[in-house]
Amino acid sequence: MVYHEGILVTSNEVVNAAAIGADIEASKIRCMIYRPSDTARNLESEKRFTYCLTDDPLLFFKGALTGNDEPKSPELSEEELCLQDDFFYPKKATKVYFCTVDSTFEKYIFDEYGEARLKGVEGTIICENKIREAQPLDREDPLVDAMVHATRLSIADEEKKESLQGKIREILAAEESTKNHRKDVKDKIIEFVEGAFS
Ligand SMILES: Cc1cc2nc3c(=O)[nH]c(=O)nc-3n(C[C@H](O)[C@H](O)[C@H](O)COP(=O)(O)O)c2cc1C
Repeated sequence: MVYHEGILVTSNEVVNAAAIGADIEASKIRCMIYRPSDTARNLESEKRFTYCLTDDPLLFFKGALTGNDEPKSPELSEEELCLQDDFFYPKKATKVYFCTVDSTFEKYIFDEYGEARLKGVEGTIICENKIREAQPLDREDPLVDAMVHATRLSIADEEKKESLQGKIREILAAEESTKNHRKDVKDKIIEFVEGAFS
């Protein structure tokens, strides 16, 4: 199994994109999805989804830090999406996996934020396509790492929020890229983190 960070696309009333980790081995894929979320809800009825790798940090931002558990709010516009064989995927994907759901299971865990309900999803990759040659982002990337911590702000108490804010600042200090698209995402993450305290 190889663990990836990517964007999981489902559709129900609207097309939903969420940043989700996935274990992939040959034609099998497995994800653990927190509830409540649009992704977990959509996969109750939808038996197919797209999993995408990407080198675009803005896609992670939109998937992780916008439209959380908001079934009527699409994270991506129609112009940002492609459709192939009934599977939607973001234009900025570097590789896409078209998947069907084989089985789901429920899991309860108790972590530092309290009790959490997860939906496990096991699926089969029926088709995979490399869209373009590029190194996809993963958790080694400071922007991606900072966003993982930022998604926890909504479930953290005031004390934990402050320690998460410190952690995110520390991670983002390591982000030294001069590329405009990365600087823009860094600013958006900072704005999101500050918004969690207002
Ligand atoms: C790199 C990264 C990986 C993530 N992996 C997961 C995951 O494996 N499971 C999960 O439930 N949420 C994960 N998240 C958080 C979700 O992206 C976030 O909760 C999202 O808003 C859910 O959106 P939805 O309500 O549209 O499904 C991850 C976030 C980031 C930045």
